[in-house]
Amino acid sequence: MPADTDNRPKGKSLRPLRELVPFIRPYTRVVLLAAVALLVGAGALLGLPIALRYVIDYGIAARDPATINQYFVGLFVVALLFGLFAALRLYLVTWLGERVVADIRKAVYARVLRMDPTFFEVTQTGEVLSRLTTDTTLIQSIAGTGVSIALRNVIQLVGALVMLAITSPRLMGMILLLIPAVVVPLIVIGRRVRGLSRDAQDKVATTSGLAGETLNAVQTVQAFTLEEFQVGRFGEAVQASFRAAARRAKAGALLTGTSIVALFGAITFVLWVGAHAVLAGEITGGQLGQFLLYAMFVAGSAASLSEVWSEVQRAAGAMERLAELLTASPRITVPAQPASLPARREGRIVFEQVSFSYPSRPGSAALRDFSLEIRPGEKVAFVGPSGAGKTTTFQLLMRFYDLAGGRILVDGVDIATVRPEDVRQRIGVVPQETVVFAASARDNIRYGRTGATDAEIEAAATAAAADEFIRKLPEGYDTFLGERGTRLSGGQKQRIAIARALLKDPPVLLLDEATSALDAESERLVQEALEYLEKDRTTIIIAHRLATVLKADRIVVMNEGRIEDIGRHEDLVRRNPLYARLAELQFGEARAADAA
Ligand SMILES: Nc1ncnc2c1ncn2[C@@H]1O[C@H](COP(=O)(O)OP(=O)(O)OP(=O)(O)O)[C@@H](O)[C@H]1O
Ligand SMILES: [Mg+2]
Repeated sequence: MPADTDNRPKGKSLRPLRELVPFIRPYTRVVLLAAVALLVGAGALLGLPIALRYVIDYGIAARDPATINQYFVGLFVVALLFGLFAALRLYLVTWLGERVVADIRKAVYARVLRMDPTFFEVTQTGEVLSRLTTDTTLIQSIAGTGVSIALRNVIQLVGALVMLAITSPRLMGMILLLIPAVVVPLIVIGRRVRGLSRDAQDKVATTSGLAGETLNAVQTVQAFTLEEFQVGRFGEAVQASFRAAARRAKAGALLTGTSIVALFGAITFVLWVGAHAVLAGEITGGQLGQFLLYAMFVAGSAASLSEVWSEVQRAAGAMERLAELLTASPRITVPAQPASLPARREGRIVFEQVSFSYPSRPGSAALRDFSLEIRPGEKVAFVGPSGAGKTTTFQLLMRFYDLAGGRILVDGVDIATVRPEDVRQRIGVVPQETVVFAASARDNIRYGRTGATDAEIEAAATAAAADEFIRKLPEGYDTFLGERGTRLSGGQKQRIAIARALLKDPPVLLLDEATSALDAESERLVQEALEYLEKDRTTIIIAHRLATVLKADRIVVMNEGRIEDIGRHEDLVRRNPLYARLAELQFGEARAADAA
């Protein structure tokens, strides 16, 4: 992904850049060293014109070869010093920029990864990603090179102006009048060029967006015979991007022409006045040479500073967005002195008059007055129509949200009083859709418990009926299960998830049964693996299969955030019309109702 740094909004003020201080502080020594290099380098540069003046006045004018040699050696030493310290400074500041950005990236990622679901409902992951890449790149250029360029040019500008005043106050006055005449038009045209560049980039982005969209759906395009139409659309976009690029080129050419004419015009003018001053005996030839060099330094620094300024503003904007992420804190509150769960991991769960609504929908309750006690080792199935609140109970049990009312106890302790990590340690989840990470099969299972040995992983895979298919993969357990790499079937993914849960070995198991049907053989393997996993564990299953509800100790019928009924399948089919209908629809078991 190219870092589209030009399009990021600028900061309104430079204050956010203060947030950089804690990231730079650990490297104070590098900063000091760079500052020394900067000062020595700038000093050497400012000494250059003086050396030139002596070469002219005492060497060339006096026709004395020995003096000329001496001064040229001096000149070379100055150049050597300047080059050496410029290299040192460049290395140090680039290092600093990269280091600071690496630290910021880590800090932002660590922060974002700990945020609760509410945060991700309002912040799009794409936005987080673009802050991690584009905004940090902007900071990188400012934290290192930007600051150093700015400082170097400020020193150069001030130093050169002082030296100009010392060399010839009259000529210096003239320069001060000329600078705005040269710099202002350049800044104005430069701004226009930047604006047009952005426009050209936008247009290019539009064309690739258009192409990407249609290429991804090329079969749909062909099926509707839209080729002609899409080619036309793309042609228009390409033409628009060409026109924008041409406009930019025109402005760029104008900028180059103007800057050459303005700069050389000004230099010629100063030279002309200076030459007359030499003739009139007001200054020496050497002083004129010295003066000219200083004047060029002044112009160069002024131009660089105007460049860097807009970069600094953009970096301020970037830092503001990063600081937002860095200071974000999860909504769920953890007490200052968190309680601890009892050492005995029983897996007892109590919902006590729980009521809850999602932060994004404060008006509608997802759970109301929800009370349920689950004994250690019990198997409970949740059944209910879509939107009944089944998944919500899992979210709350894992403490992704805070309750509006009531309590949830795990092993006798209110989960609001302990650290969320401690609660989640006791809970294993087998989700509807297993997430496979871009890692080897082995490491994918290791997500269940990062400290697990290879032998433990293979044992878990065997128990989850996953060992056989993993060994048949091209590189066995080391096969990379990338997004676009080896594809696993639905049943295989579920068994990976089961192996993960086995490795974690939690006292409580939450199972969101997949709605999509597996083929009979796959289904049998998954069911066997699950049976092994559920043994001796408290299990809550969001059930979509008849087999599951039949073997559950209790079935909880949910509707609109409430518990409607609790019982066993045969009783519920008979006495609860909602359950009877669900059984018929979801389990495809019309006969079940008849049989009861
Ligand atoms: N993140 C969320 N933000 C706002 N509302 C939500 C969120 N997640 C769920 N809801 C709402 O809360 C209610 C309960 O949703 P929940 O996901 O618990 O239902 P469910 O019983 O799991 O349904 P399904 O069987 O379709 O998975 C629904 O009205 C749903 O629209
Ligand atoms: Mg659900």
